[in-house]
Amino acid sequence: MRTKLIAGNWKMNGSLADNEQLCKAILAGMNTSQTAGVAVCAPAVYLSQLQNLLSGTAIALGSQDISSHEKGAFTGELSAAMLKEFGVRYAIVGHSERRQYHGETDTAVALKAKAALAAGITPIVCVGESLAERESDKTEEVVKRQLAAVIHENGHCISEIVVAYEPVWAIGTGKTATPEMAQAVHAVLRAQLHAASSVAAERVQILYGGSMNAANAASLLSMADIDGGLIGGAALKAADFLSIIAAAN
Ligand code: PGA
Repeated sequence: MRTKLIAGNWKMNGSLADNEQLCKAILAGMNTSQTAGVAVCAPAVYLSQLQNLLSGTAIALGSQDISSHEKGAFTGELSAAMLKEFGVRYAIVGHSERRQYHGETDTAVALKAKAALAAGITPIVCVGESLAERESDKTEEVVKRQLAAVIHENGHCISEIVVAYEPVWAIGTGKTATPEMAQAVHAVLRAQLHAASSVAAERVQILYGGSMNAANAASLLSMADIDGGLIGGAALKAADFLSIIAAAN
């Protein structure tokens, strides 16, 4: 049985004061006997602050991106080794906002996942279709293409990744995929993992992301192949994030 994972994606939000308040409120509200894993993926400049606030707690630290390169002339990039020094356990790779605004290709995303895995950081690999792609019945084709690139580059350690299915049309829009719609795509991804490795199919957590909130979390998380959530907006409010964590337990 896979444990659930609830990961907050803070995106470009936060401040020293807000982060401290938010983390303290989440930690204070978490049930000590909870089974679900919890992580927050913060802007890189705050990783040091969060390492101090979260080390030894039940909240793991994540970054929102990672370089595919080891080191050198890559202005603005952060290597896996650097992130590791700040206690980073998860790295989001291939978020749709990075694919869209920074031109990240499937191959670039796959290489980022590879760099994370090589350093012992778990990549949270985001896949998902746009509204136009869903409307033209391309959902399956798109998510399979995105995941295939990651499997191709990381076949031998594919069971070590986390996948997040995030339909682009549901991100930050308040429109959520219904549990059945999400489950259908998760099942496709699970089958694709199975074709690569039966161990991976069994182990890999497939998260749903896209307007998951306190009200819809329980029904989404009750689906067979939905193993957690990647939460944007609702991860910035302690009460909402705590309700989602509670729904995962
Ligand atoms: P949202 O974002 O929960 O605000 O829709 C999810 C994400 O982009 O990871």
